[in-house]
Amino acid sequence: MLLFKSVVEINRFLSQFRQNGRRVGFVPTMGALHKGHLDLLQSSQQNNDLTVCSIFVNPTQFNESSDLEKYPRREAADIKLLLGIGCDVLFMPPVSEMYPETYAGPPAFDFKGLEEPMEGTHRPGHFEGVAQVIHRFIEILEPGSIVMGQKDLQQYLIVRSMIRQLDVEVDLILHPIVREESGLAMSSRNRRLSPEEKAEAAGIHQILQAAKSWKASGFHPNEIQDRGMKALLKNPHFKPEYFDVVDTETLKPVERFKKDQEVAVCTAVWVGPVRLIDNILI
Ligand code: PAJ
Repeated sequence: MLLFKSVVEINRFLSQFRQNGRRVGFVPTMGALHKGHLDLLQSSQQNNDLTVCSIFVNPTQFNESSDLEKYPRREAADIKLLLGIGCDVLFMPPVSEMYPETYAGPPAFDFKGLEEPMEGTHRPGHFEGVAQVIHRFIEILEPGSIVMGQKDLQQYLIVRSMIRQLDVEVDLILHPIVREESGLAMSSRNRRLSPEEKAEAAGIHQILQAAKSWKASGFHPNEIQDRGMKALLKNPHFKPEYFDVVDTETLKPVERFKKDQEVAVCTAVWVGPVRLIDNILI
């Protein structure tokens, strides 16, 4: 595995590699890698001639400095995991490489309201930071494809919207949510849960699955939201922020279920000191 920290060097290396039409895949991460990340990487490896994994805890997407400080950093363990799956290239730039003083910032994007609900309401400025860092990565790496996880569905939709606005040739691939056996969505933040909290947190997925059956039983979207919030509030370990039934094209609340409409139920829940997000397509 090649490790790059310099923007100029990785750009030069990939420019050479891309000659003869070889395809470069890219999987952006913030490290503290788990099986979810590795699945994304393996999917990219299967479909590209070379896959770049980035580990960069992007300061511009954290709206709370304490969250940025507490974000787990495990470089040595991450490198081991990446070696284990035969990752080709790791890009681990310092902040000064990503955002040098000369960096002018990304263009202005119009996400058409995708950035407003759910994570947008609870983490102001978060998606501007995500769009900025992915835009910068696209500029540096010029990947043919990017794999992102459904766990962060709203993030995926923001990046998809950005790519459409940029009119660049990048395939954006959505990878399903990778879960623990208990159903808990894998997340770097799960490491900060106590064993008891971790066991309780599996209940979030159960409530999302219940939402699917409530839809099948004919409940109205608002009733599903109410039932979901009530079920979450019943657990004394949970402090839910939202449990929203949304259209996956617009992320607007679903007023009533229509045929040929893809609907997701998305939730964010504090479990002890950790904020977890999860979703399900229903
Ligand atoms: P991070 O949380 O490290 O996640 C990196 C990628 O892994 C994202 O696309 C995320 O959706 C995916 N992922 C995480 N857990 C997953 C799971 N259980 N199943 C499937 N995919 C999962 O998301 C970020 O980093 C950052 O915002 C980033 C995109 C790197 C920009 O800084």
